[in-house]
Amino acid sequence: MSILVTGGAGYIGSHTVLELLNAGYDAVVIDNLCNSKTESLKRVEEITGKSVKFIKADIRDRAALDDVFANNKIDAVIHFAGLKSVPESAEKPLEYYENNIGGTVNLCLAMRDAGCKKIVFSSSATVYGGDNVSPLREDMPTGKTTNPYGTTKLYIEKILQDTAAADKDWSVCLLRYFNPIGAHESGRIGEDPRGIPNNLMPYIMRVVVGKLPELVVYGNDFDTPDGTGVRDYIHVVDLALGHIKAVEKVLGETGSSIYNLGTGIGYSVLDIIAAVEKAIGRPLPYKFGPRRAGDIDTCFSDPSKAKRELGWEAKRNLEKMCEDTVRWQLNNPDGYGD
Ligand code: NAD
Ligand code: WQD
Repeated sequence: MSILVTGGAGYIGSHTVLELLNAGYDAVVIDNLCNSKTESLKRVEEITGKSVKFIKADIRDRAALDDVFANNKIDAVIHFAGLKSVPESAEKPLEYYENNIGGTVNLCLAMRDAGCKKIVFSSSATVYGGDNVSPLREDMPTGKTTNPYGTTKLYIEKILQDTAAADKDWSVCLLRYFNPIGAHESGRIGEDPRGIPNNLMPYIMRVVVGKLPELVVYGNDFDTPDGTGVRDYIHVVDLALGHIKAVEKVLGETGSSIYNLGTGIGYSVLDIIAAVEKAIGRPLPYKFGPRRAGDIDTCFSDPSKAKRELGWEAKRNLEKMCEDTVRWQLNNPDGYGD
């Protein structure tokens, strides 16, 4: 079986390609490399001893997609390609709508015309908005997104559900990720963001390697046990393995489904700092600052539906998430380099 992975050179994509190869699938990757480098895939090949077919292409380029489907037998698609910065999306909403939504519609048209109607999509816990109370379940209302990035995920979910409702040959699986962190335990692949990171763990890693002086904890007056924000951090390898289960599902049946991919456990920012300090064996410099606009107190999943229906659950704990992230960062202080 051959799986087309859009955005497969990126953080979650590269870890998923690795697990696809380990599970015996062939992987064809398309990526425009706007936020990644092919080095990630070279290292996936090195770790697995298997090859990945890489095509530099943009999901908005219909002719390029048609070529990919004409020249490769594709059984299903895992669709990661997209822009993902919350603050950037507020500055450039049209670019986000065009890339994420326009790109997805273009991809689905090419898939339909090629007769490949099976897709697993990278959605996000952000679609639950701030009003639902954790643990978040898939049947809770969505719609109150707080930024254009989140709105692209919400709209794409709807577009894919409408597509599956209109044509019974389609099989759509929407995966709502919580907060992916960690790296493959080889220390060879991991998250390599450009510029100053927005997200907590990549920011902490820049402090660990001395590229940033200290972490600013955004607020200590949230309604949580220690006053700092609580999130459901999930090891990227567990997340990748969830995609293998989702691929099996779309290959085996039609219709549409939604699954949370999280651990079901909420950790605070101070919990994360303590776990990183344990992994590096020294204190992490940090200070408290004001809240970041839009941040909510608590967000964690109810992951029981994925366990029940996909036979998937996260196995790697916070200690492992931090150990693996630190190993990746210390081995690769400049990420994949220039
Ligand atoms: P990433 O930026 O590392 O990977 C995305 C990849 O898509 C990159 O390699 C980028 O070059 C590529 N890409 C972007 N636009 C493209 C286009 N038009 N054509 C072809 N390739 C394009 O991000 P990631 O963390 O691996 O996230 C993967 C997916 O998961 C994204 O859709 C993201 O929104 C979603 N997601 C991520 C998180 C998270 O916290 N990392 C959480 C929830 C959902
Ligand atoms: C985690 C916690 C911050 C940085 C975002 C997106 C979401 C999803 C995952 C894609 C919060 C605190 C952070 C820092 C801090 N992405 N923090 N100092 O905000 O839960 O989710 O990424 O779909 O859509 O919104 O993740 O890593 O930014 O923050 O104190 O420098 O760390 O306040 O409590 P978030 P995050």
